[in-house]
Amino acid sequence: MVNQKDIQKAVEILRSGGLVAFPTETVYGLGADASNLDALRKVFAAKQRPIDHPLIVHLADVAELTHWAREVPASAERLAQVFWPGPLTLILKKAAHVSDMVTGNQDTIGLRIPNHPIARALLRAFGGGLAAPSANRFGRISPTTAEAVQEELEQAVNMILDGGQCDVGLESTIVDVSSEHPVVLRPGRITSQEIEAVLREPVSFGKKNSPRVSGSLESHYAPRTPTALVAKAELSNYVKNLAALDLPCVVLSYESIALEREGVTCLVMSADPKQYAHDLYRVMRELDKKKLKLIVIEALPEGQDWDAIRDRVQRATAK
Ligand code: TXA
Ligand code: MG
Repeated sequence: MVNQKDIQKAVEILRSGGLVAFPTETVYGLGADASNLDALRKVFAAKQRPIDHPLIVHLADVAELTHWAREVPASAERLAQVFWPGPLTLILKKAAHVSDMVTGNQDTIGLRIPNHPIARALLRAFGGGLAAPSANRFGRISPTTAEAVQEELEQAVNMILDGGQCDVGLESTIVDVSSEHPVVLRPGRITSQEIEAVLREPVSFGKKNSPRVSGSLESHYAPRTPTALVAKAELSNYVKNLAALDLPCVVLSYESIALEREGVTCLVMSADPKQYAHDLYRVMRELDKKKLKLIVIEALPEGQDWDAIRDRVQRATAK
């Protein structure tokens, strides 16, 4: 359990330009003082992330918004009021003092107030903005447990605050409200329908391959094991026709299906999208350690509640 002493130690590390990984309700973040260029450089080095990929700055309180953003439109205020603290990132026009390292040389900044007791305690005690990308190496699956952070970053991080497994399990919904019409850049637990209901206007969707959103690179969030996406109706034939080279193989399905072939194991995930999202990255990480030749993911149902999961699974199988 994390106590006040741990939080104090974490704050000291952050103030001296070190890196602290901490849990949020979505995934673990690799935190650094967003106003300290040396600390930011360490984030990119630890993640082996290209320097032009922007970072999300995490805040304790909505009152800090105007310190980081030079314009806060009414749409941002409404979304903040309804969804913060929570799994939502807002893209706003950046304030003049914000470093290019945070924004990837853009005129905008990503801001989020997370809803996790440890993240909130840390942010309050730190008293400033924490840049925190997901605490994984570039292109890998985001960590949803402290052990996964350790595996990913090893000595590159000075301290890991262990908050157990993250509740949501997938990264935050990103909504760009920096121009006239809202754009969803990354789907997450908060659906575009929920965003539209609050804004009372339709949202559009960001271009899938904009290099500006690192999560939008095609093969992102990917296990090392070859991973295929297969429609439910084709699953049984697909498994039957697998070459011996593709075995052993695990099939991730969201409903129990009868697959009879030696070397093929069916792993039944939840048919509830919240639970499925909660489990997905942890399960992919575990499967990645099993020396499988292939992971097969059963294509997911339609519907907004599955949007974020479909998005991540598509990327995991894009190679
Ligand atoms: O749930 C989350 O958002 C987690 C937790 C730790 O808060 N963080 C996270 O950070 O997923 P990261 O760096 O792995 O992904 C942040 C995404 C990237 O795809 C990045 O390109 C995008 O946010 N982003 C950040 N600032 C942006 C900006 N100004 N314009 C467009 N995209 C931006
Ligand atoms: Mg990430």
